[in-house]
Amino acid sequence: THALTFLGLESSCDDTAAAVVRVSDTGREVLASVVSGQTELHAPFGGVVPEIAARAHAEKLDLCVEEALAKAGLALSDLDGIAVTAGPGLIGGVMSGVMCAKGLAAGSGLPLIGVNHLAGHALTPRLTDGLDYPYLMLLVSGGHCQFLIASGPENFTRLGGTIDDAPGEAFDKVAKLLALPQPGGPSVEAEARKGDPRAIALPRPLLDRPGCDMSFSGLKTAVLRARDQIIAEHGGLPKARRADLCAAFQASVSDVLAEKSRRALREYLTQAPAHPALAVAGGVAANKAIRGALETVCAEMSVAFLAPPLALCTDNAAMIAYAGIERYQGGGRDGMDLVARPRWPL
Ligand code: KG4
Ligand code: ZN
Repeated sequence: THALTFLGLESSCDDTAAAVVRVSDTGREVLASVVSGQTELHAPFGGVVPEIAARAHAEKLDLCVEEALAKAGLALSDLDGIAVTAGPGLIGGVMSGVMCAKGLAAGSGLPLIGVNHLAGHALTPRLTDGLDYPYLMLLVSGGHCQFLIASGPENFTRLGGTIDDAPGEAFDKVAKLLALPQPGGPSVEAEARKGDPRAIALPRPLLDRPGCDMSFSGLKTAVLRARDQIIAEHGGLPKARRADLCAAFQASVSDVLAEKSRRALREYLTQAPAHPALAVAGGVAANKAIRGALETVCAEMSVAFLAPPLALCTDNAAMIAYAGIERYQGGGRDGMDLVARPRWPL
C-alpha cells in the first residue's frame, strides 16, 4: 500500500481544528495539527453558546486549514483525501465543518470522508502507538465517558458509560462550587495534592451495581452538601478543608473509574486479545491520580496501559484525519450528500 496523506477538520464543540496526517508503510505521522480554542468567547456566558460557536467555527476553519497546510508544507493537490467530523456534537459547528470540507473536496476533486468524533478519539492510540485491534478504550472528557472495545475503524462495542454527567463536567462543577478557576480539572487536581482524601467521606456511585455504567452527578451534589456543612461549622470554607474536599472528590472519581475499568477489562479479556491493552483519551486522562489508578489496575491484570500525549487526548483534527484514512482504507467514501448529525452513537 502506498502512503496516504489526509487533511482533517474538527468543529463539533468549542475547538476549531485542522490537521494533516500521513500514513505509510513506515508509520503514522502528524505533519501539522492546528487547534484554535474559543474559551474567551464563551467565558462571559459560563458555558458554550452554540450560536457563538458555530459562527466562530465558520470564521476560523479556512484559516486553520491554511495554517495546517502551510505547516505541513503541502498544497491541497498533494493530499489524498479530506476527512471531517460529521457528528456527534453541536449541530451548527458540525455543519460549518461539513460545508467547509465539501467546498474543499468539490474544488480539488479529492475524496470526502465523514468521521464520527468519538471514533476519532477511539482510534488515537493507533495513530500514536500503532495499537493492534481489539483494544479497550476509556473515553473520559468534559462531554463523554464510556468504555469501548475497538475491533476496527467502524467496529466498536460499548460496554457502558455515564448515565448522567461526564467526569470532566463534574470536575468543572466542583471547581465552581469551591470558587476555583475553570477549567476545573487542573485546578481541582492542584488543590487535591494539598488535601487528605480520607478527611471527608464521599460516595462511590454505582459501584454496588454490576456492569460498567457510571454516574457522577450525585457525587457533585455530595460535594455541595459537604461544602455547606463545613461552611455552617466554620462560618466559611477554610483553605485546608477545601483541599480535603478536592482530594476526596478526586479519590472518588478515580476509585469509580478504576473499579469500572477492572470490570470492563474482565469482559474484554474474554475475547483473548493477542496484545491486551487499555487506552485512554479525553481531557480527564491528564489527571495524574486517575492515570495512576488506571495504571495500577492494568498492571494487576497484565494489560498494557496507553495514554496518548495530551494534545492528542483532547479535541483535535489529527485524530479525525487519521480515522478518515482508516475508513478510506476500508473502502469508506462519502458524497456531497454527507449530513451533519448532532447525535451519532458509535
Ligand atoms: O477532552 P476535552 O479537552 O474536551 C471535551 O470535553 O471534549 O476535556 C475537557 C475536560 C474538562 O472538563 C476539564 O476540566 C477536564 O477535561 N480536565 C481534567 C484535567 N484536565 C482537564 N479533569 C481532571 N483532571 C485534570 N488534570
Ligand atoms: Zn471530544
